[in-house]
Amino acid sequence: MQQDKLWNDWHPVCKAEELKDDPKQVHVLGERVVIFRNQKGVHAFKDLCIHRGAALSLGKVVDGKLVCAYHAWEYDEKGTCVKIPALPCKRPIPKKARATVYHCKEYLGLIWVNLGDEPAPLISYPEYDKEGFHTIICGPYDVKANAPRIIENFLDVSHLMFVHEGMLGDADHAEVVDYDVNFIDGRFITSKIPVYQPNSDGRSKGGYTDYVYEILSPTIARFTKTTEGSDEEFTILVAVNQEDHEQTSVFMLLTRNYDLDAPDEPFREFQDTIFYQDLDIVESQKPELLPLDLQAEMHLKSDALTIAYRRWLDELGIENGTMPIDEAKRNKLKKNSKTEELQPS
Ligand code: FES
Ligand code: CO
Repeated sequence: MQQDKLWNDWHPVCKAEELKDDPKQVHVLGERVVIFRNQKGVHAFKDLCIHRGAALSLGKVVDGKLVCAYHAWEYDEKGTCVKIPALPCKRPIPKKARATVYHCKEYLGLIWVNLGDEPAPLISYPEYDKEGFHTIICGPYDVKANAPRIIENFLDVSHLMFVHEGMLGDADHAEVVDYDVNFIDGRFITSKIPVYQPNSDGRSKGGYTDYVYEILSPTIARFTKTTEGSDEEFTILVAVNQEDHEQTSVFMLLTRNYDLDAPDEPFREFQDTIFYQDLDIVESQKPELLPLDLQAEMHLKSDALTIAYRRWLDELGIENGTMPIDEAKRNKLKKNSKTEELQPS
């Protein structure tokens, strides 16, 4: 896939608790990647043994080394091959015998992989460690759609009343008030957007909820819901891994500062229900690649946040999952606007 800005971004690949003794195969931007854990932490390599191209993820971790299943070459966490069983004693291991190493981190209860040479910083999610707040992880949900379509769906206020009617919205309260979108500290953030919700988080409490959305990266967004007169906060962070063309996996972190003793399962089940309500819609959207040319689809004022998102993807030059603006058309538009400027008023 394209080596655009996403190449240097961090992508969530699995829940940290799921990476135990065995290596695991994951996919990031079309790359086959193996992740594994040893005493020194978590590690990611290209999932390919340089000897005969077998997937290293079929092997196992022995004494901290990743051992290929085919001829048992052993790699340390730096990717250096430290043992080749077929080599007669004393013959040195060729220097070229190395695995391709990627960046890998355990963060927010997830394993993150970065394929780039100049990794961007990880996003921050302060609620995760905040005293009095509790986070659960939902997903990963497998979706046959590109990451930008999924992020857009998450940022879309005006579908709540229809796709999630009776839960996150009510068709008789479908109007979306004007709201602001600002770019502060490297991310987009909205003003409060009030939404009438019959049952905003599964507890069957109806009323107006204020949403504040943020776009943290091309594939990561969040919102926080609050209600006037209440200290309760509910946040969802969504992080999408573009595994391959039109194949993504979606992780959601749900953080709340109330009902801390209540079981997590109902919150998770509620989120699963909401997610599967969106799934058919998102998988049905055409074109599959998000058009960055704003003239390709229709927009309303209530779409201000998703418009900002598309413009930003265009500015960043994101080509994975998007349909970039046709250069010829862009030049033509530029030329026309120049001619207009030159005309006497
Ligand atoms: Fe991995 Fe031979 S293919 S050791
Ligand atoms: Co939805």
